Amino acid sequence: MLKVGIVGCGFIGTTLARAIDGGVVEAELLAVYDRNIERARGLAASLSHPPDVMDVESMAKSCELVVECASQQAVKELAHTVLSNECSLMVMSVGALLDEKLRDELEKLARAHREKIYVPSGALAGLDGLRAACVGKIHRMELTTTKPPMALVGAPHLREANIDVERLKVPTVVFEGTAIDAVRGFPANINVAAAISLAGMGAEKTRVRIVADPSAQRNTHTLLVEGEFGRLECTVQNVPSPENPKTSMLAALSAISTLKRIAQPLQVG
Ligand SMILES: NC(=O)c1ccc[n+]([C@@H]2O[C@H](COP(=O)([O-])OP(=O)(O)OC[C@H]3O[C@@H](n4cnc5c(N)ncnc54)[C@H](O)[C@@H]3O)[C@@H](O)[C@H]2O)c1
Repeated sequence: MLKVGIVGCGFIGTTLARAIDGGVVEAELLAVYDRNIERARGLAASLSHPPDVMDVESMAKSCELVVECASQQAVKELAHTVLSNECSLMVMSVGALLDEKLRDELEKLARAHREKIYVPSGALAGLDGLRAACVGKIHRMELTTTKPPMALVGAPHLREANIDVERLKVPTVVFEGTAIDAVRGFPANINVAAAISLAGMGAEKTRVRIVADPSAQRNTHTLLVEGEFGRLECTVQNVPSPENPKTSMLAALSAISTLKRIAQPLQVG
């Protein structure tokens, strides 16, 4: 069975750990880690097959795949160590991979060690169609994300632009620009913009609009792609996680489904 380690024991890490522990995925959870070590210990102790709590280097040496579900900073801290220890990597904080220098280094390391870097589709659908469409010519690629204000609170762009989202009374566009600026301005909110950039035309050519809507109950993403293939429009209305309103339930489920794809012999789609 695939030996897995998890870094980041928040909503996604915990959901994934429980899925492995419950036998939903053909994998063995060997290790967990969180910079909040009590959180890692608590998660390990709550499982029926408790994994060890260990640092990233020891984890990479004993596992075949490390799943990052922590933060963009964590990707920068751990990715080299994981790949150079002959271990594959799954990245949830995909915004980190828009840093071209980091991405090039990691791709080189992965090639040299014959390992893989997996990026789940996260809180969005339609990446399969987007990937296929991008084999041909694309004219337009846009993402519109609508979230309740509390899911956007704390984003650096809001501070810089002096926008107090909690005082908004009507749906308001709080950002419009490239995916690269969206990820910089909303590092914990807009991983989907990074995922479509990597699957598609790159972050400079991907347009992103972020709307704060005081009446919204869900995190809604609409992907629009036009090209020689025709037009693709895909909307997902995501239920936010009760533990972390910035993260959608579908993001955690996509981590589980990617792990299933890696672990199982039959791959569909
Ligand atoms: N790809 C997607 O579509 C998508 C969707 C939602 C969230 N995410 C990203 O996935 C990550 C996890 O999301 P979550 O909702 O589980 O977050 P969370 O806040 O619930 O949990 C994150 C955990 O990681 C730990 N952590 C943070 N930095 C760390 C580091 N450098 N080293 C070790 N541990 C660290 C924290 O202590 C926390 O326990 C976030 O970066 C989030 O932005 C991606």
